[in-house]
Amino acid sequence: MANALTPIILVFLISVSAAGTRTKLYPVHGQHRTSESESYEDDGICSSMVEKQGYVCEERKVTTRDGYILSIQRIPVARPEEKARNKPPVLLQHGVLMDGITWLLLPPHQSLALLLADNGFDVWIANTRGTKYSRGHVSLAPTDAVKFPSLRIDISLVSLLVFQAYWNWSWDELVAYDLPATLQYVHDQTGQKLHYVGHSLGTLVALAALSKDQLLNMVRSAALLSPIAHVGQLTSPLARNAAENFIAETLYWLGIHEFVPRGEAVMNLLKDICKKPGVDCTNLLTSFTGENCCLSSSIVDVFLDHEPQSTSTKNMIHLAQMIRDGTITMYNYGDENENIRHYGKPYPPAYNMTTIPNDLPLFVSYGGQDALSDTKDVHLLLDSLKDHDGDKLVVQYRDDYAHADYVMGENAKQAVYDPLIAFFRLQ
Ligand SMILES: *[C@@H]1O[C@H](CO)[C@@H](O)[C@H](O)[C@H]1NC(C)=O
Ligand SMILES: *[C@@H]1O[C@H](CO)[C@@H](O)[C@H](O)[C@H]1NC(C)=O
Repeated sequence: MANALTPIILVFLISVSAAGTRTKLYPVHGQHRTSESESYEDDGICSSMVEKQGYVCEERKVTTRDGYILSIQRIPVARPEEKARNKPPVLLQHGVLMDGITWLLLPPHQSLALLLADNGFDVWIANTRGTKYSRGHVSLAPTDAVKFPSLRIDISLVSLLVFQAYWNWSWDELVAYDLPATLQYVHDQTGQKLHYVGHSLGTLVALAALSKDQLLNMVRSAALLSPIAHVGQLTSPLARNAAENFIAETLYWLGIHEFVPRGEAVMNLLKDICKKPGVDCTNLLTSFTGENCCLSSSIVDVFLDHEPQSTSTKNMIHLAQMIRDGTITMYNYGDENENIRHYGKPYPPAYNMTTIPNDLPLFVSYGGQDALSDTKDVHLLLDSLKDHDGDKLVVQYRDDYAHADYVMGENAKQAVYDPLIAFFRLQ
């Protein structure tokens, strides 16, 4: 299993580290659209992953306030003859370096997206900017690049090397633009408040938005699988080593551009990391995610066919800052004047998890073997939620689970999804 997943894990290794791509631009694969006119076209995730299984699936598009055109899939009913009336909507938000296919990796009746449809939910699948089916923008193309874009230094010296405007974002923008646009769209379409499910970074964007009292009028409840909030105690030796040792040096030769996980530069970076003392790359899967108990071997090929997906180098740096500093703040420009220019103060503003409203129904599931969402970090998050209304917080602990089990575990249905659906039914 570990061997089969090695190429992926090589790639995932970088997912929470400050990864560098050495001053080179990469070919962009996947689609790029610059108009919204194709809103209901049928391609991509619906046709490749959902309709084949006999489910109804619609391709939708939503444009964020900063111009990104995101694809969303809707599974309104499990079977064509079913009525679509007034089903409770659920939005599924994947993590970094993944896309909406995260929720379709497991076989039908076991993957969360299809299981929710089987159980009478109106399922909506989000795809973050920059991933294969969400590469459109009203005016920018992912490949557009300028050198020496401005005299103003944006991210230390880096942006003077290569700057791709399309990739000038970190997860702050997912909180500020992608999540609100997607939630608003589903809310408008269904006329109902949504249930939300996030995995990994998909939990952080929701926690951050909810902590700022945003979007509450549209969210009915939230389920957080392998929650990422605090990552200061992350135990993954690979991710930690990468974040701590590379970010500082990397900044000088990194630009704001696409982070291509299968790209040559990422592979080179990885080779360097694997030479560091204390980093054991012989079992990359385990040393990165923690020891997944229950990965379904039948889905590895599906996984390799579709993942991993691109993100921005700026997002990677932001995540590395969190690992290094143990804080949950907005992107740190690394320079007081730059921070003042962006935020009006020398340090980036914090997202404060204690301000999540106490009456918001939350389902949190975390695993004892997860090296990315470490139990100590999850306990910090739970500590921030200690005043939460007792009947509004369900915490599930799976001693045997690690990060990938939550979306690829052959027993995820029984272990996590069935209890999650039971929780949604009560809200
Ligand atoms: C990049 O994004 C930041 C944050 O939104 C913005 O302040 C900055 O002006 C952008 N940089 C350029 C060169 O467009
Ligand atoms: C978060 O807010 C609480 C009270 O609302 C405050 O006591 C705490 O210091 C804040 N934490 C941070 C990191 O700002």
